[in-house]
Amino acid sequence: MDHQPATLPPHILLFPFPIQGHVKPTLNLAELLCLHGLHVTILISEYCRTRLLRLGNVQSGTLLHPALCFKTISDGLPEDHPRVGMRVMEVTPPNIVGPLFRELMTSTNCLGSETRKPLTCIIADAILSFLGDFAIEKGIPFIYFPSISACSYWTSFCIPQVIEADEIPLKGNDMDLLVKSVPGMEGFLRRRDLPIFRADDINDPKLQFLKTECRKNLVAHALIMNTFDDLEESILSQMHTHFPNIYTIGPLHVHLRIRLAVAEMISSSTSTTSVSFWEEDRKCLTWLDSQPSKSVIYVSFGSITVMTREQHMDFWYGLVNSGQRFLWVIRPDFFASGEDVESQILTELEEGTRKRGFMVGWAPQEEVLAHPATGGFLTHSGWNSSMESITAGVPMICWSYFADQMVNSRLVSEVWKLGLDMKDTCDRVVVEKMVRDLMEVRKDEFQQRADQMAKKAKRAVSEGGSSYFNLDRLIQGIKSMIV
Ligand code: UDX
Repeated sequence: MDHQPATLPPHILLFPFPIQGHVKPTLNLAELLCLHGLHVTILISEYCRTRLLRLGNVQSGTLLHPALCFKTISDGLPEDHPRVGMRVMEVTPPNIVGPLFRELMTSTNCLGSETRKPLTCIIADAILSFLGDFAIEKGIPFIYFPSISACSYWTSFCIPQVIEADEIPLKGNDMDLLVKSVPGMEGFLRRRDLPIFRADDINDPKLQFLKTECRKNLVAHALIMNTFDDLEESILSQMHTHFPNIYTIGPLHVHLRIRLAVAEMISSSTSTTSVSFWEEDRKCLTWLDSQPSKSVIYVSFGSITVMTREQHMDFWYGLVNSGQRFLWVIRPDFFASGEDVESQILTELEEGTRKRGFMVGWAPQEEVLAHPATGGFLTHSGWNSSMESITAGVPMICWSYFADQMVNSRLVSEVWKLGLDMKDTCDRVVVEKMVRDLMEVRKDEFQQRADQMAKKAKRAVSEGGSSYFNLDRLIQGIKSMIV
């Protein structure tokens, strides 16, 4: 590598899995690193960059910091690939993107320039393990950043021992049987909560991927987790037996706001740069302004969940029949392809929605959750949504769609007791009952616990808190890394 002036700061490459739910926390992390004087290059797919640029969220390649620079790489898929639903698993095939990454690194002398040192550290999404092989070969220290919860990461990490214990492949149909071979979760993790795509075949490629991917993370210098110690302490202590160095620095979206305020770049109540892939419809905030306190259930299933028409109708009937007010995000690509949703909308649904509902294509979610009128969240339990809800003190109904969400929803209902788990059904009668339970019958009980957890989340990222301390430790660690 070239010799660079010793005065240049360390240079970190961040490479998120290129979908909304992974890019957002990675950008938060990138800004935090830049705020502490580090140079950051973030590698995103052309697809992601086009979406961010189109909405003006990434102005001429930088967010708030000139120290942050963007490079693009293909996600290995044609432009018209849907990148939603289960097909999101096809994004970034290692056999295509691995060689492209290597080529980019080699042709840029690992991104060194007159103004930037060659990379002194790589922080990669935990499911991009091919980056670890490259980093080891080049002698560049590297850290994995699984942008999911510790509990779901740990469950995936333990898949080899679940197989060993003969608990997978699943035998029989009883999905409520407890799984005993994930340490720390013996008392509550059921078969239906496993992030295994319900594989009953040991050779299923998705199961094989899960089985091996997390184990590959063991060679990294450390893990960064978007969580906080008070939330996942017992699971984190299990993880420490394999990963001695874990930096828990979440909730990242609030942590960034606090650090920007400390640096006097914004006031602590200002929103940070939006990293939405869709245009936020802010009219829903005006609608919320006219609703009573904590009376609205916010309904959103993140950026990749898709639904059949039948499921959609069940949710819709359930919401309308619950008699509660609701704000519902229905993305333009929300329906499984070929589903004709417009043709058969019934008058009773339209009327119920006109009276008590509001629908948008994409919402400013953090602001919606923080709004005084929002009293509940019907969510797919993506980790960002879960963290945003926890931080805002909003109780949840969880209808998990796949992967890590299956574990998160179980923790929400059984461990943190912040809401209800509705996974595996969206029968309209169940939806109606759960919405009533959350918003009326058990409202106080859930709200009290949600308020307590929100306080803990904020304490973690405030000066003297565990995440605040760990971020300082991470910065020091990165500064002392020698390539
Ligand atoms: C993906 C995976 O599906 C999820 O399982 C994993 O935990 C993270 O990556 P996604 O499904 O998009 O994420 O869900 P989530 O993690 O909740 O992220 C969605 C993000 O989009 C949130 O930060 C949320 O604030 C934002 N959002 C969602 C909006 O800004 N507006 C909306 O209308 C909906």
